[in-house]
Amino acid sequence: MKELSSRRFLLGRLHSLAGIVPLGLFLLEHLYSNAIAMLGKAEYDRHVGALLGIPFLPVIEVLFIAMPLLYHAGYGIYIGMMAKNNPYRYSYSQNWMFFAQRVSGLITLVFVLYHLWVFRLSSLIFASPVNYDAVQAHLQHPLIFLFYVLGVSSTTFHFSNGLWTGLITWGITSGGAAQRLSSALRLVLFVVLTGVGIGTLFAFI
Ligand code: HEM
Repeated sequence: MKELSSRRFLLGRLHSLAGIVPLGLFLLEHLYSNAIAMLGKAEYDRHVGALLGIPFLPVIEVLFIAMPLLYHAGYGIYIGMMAKNNPYRYSYSQNWMFFAQRVSGLITLVFVLYHLWVFRLSSLIFASPVNYDAVQAHLQHPLIFLFYVLGVSSTTFHFSNGLWTGLITWGITSGGAAQRLSSALRLVLFVVLTGVGIGTLFAFI
């Protein structure tokens, strides 16, 4: 029994770490890289070209993005199924946030898989270019554009809210005052990241 709970503890910490360090950092880098589209097509294409020229890129992507994502999403789905979601029975805002964290994880998963296929896997397989024109052409369809607005917002919500729970998980914000402050910061982070993400989408229109 003790062995089972310490295994669960370790798996939970690993899940949290994967969400914050490789995935969270990658999300920030990815939002920044794409936000360069707001400076214009030439800047964007130069930046994307430099990123695609990083040596051993596929190895880095598999080790630091795909594997942590597979683990974080797999374990996230498992704990999401085991959890007792009860926002209707107890309408505390934390219960809603708990539920929203799981729903946003699922939306993020669908969005990331689609986005990965369109801009990374299919370009690797069919050697199609990834540049400003390709992203612009892709976002022309209103439903795809809306799907991106939903996917970006869901991802930024999941990360901002996840950082808030992550600070509790790692014992950094254990008191009420610290949690109220980090809750305000979570809102600021969510608004800033979502603003950058949606601003970037409009830079392609
Ligand atoms: C860009 C991709 C993602 C990032 C940056 C990310 C980030 C995070 C972070 C930082 C946490 C907080 C960890 C903690 O509370 O200690 C978290 C929690 C969570 N994530 Fe993700 N995540 C991503 C994708 C996903 C996906 C695809 C799923 C599932 C389909 C998912 C499911 C969950 C669940 C269920 C939790 C709550 C864990 C708990 O309450 O203990 N995440 N995520």
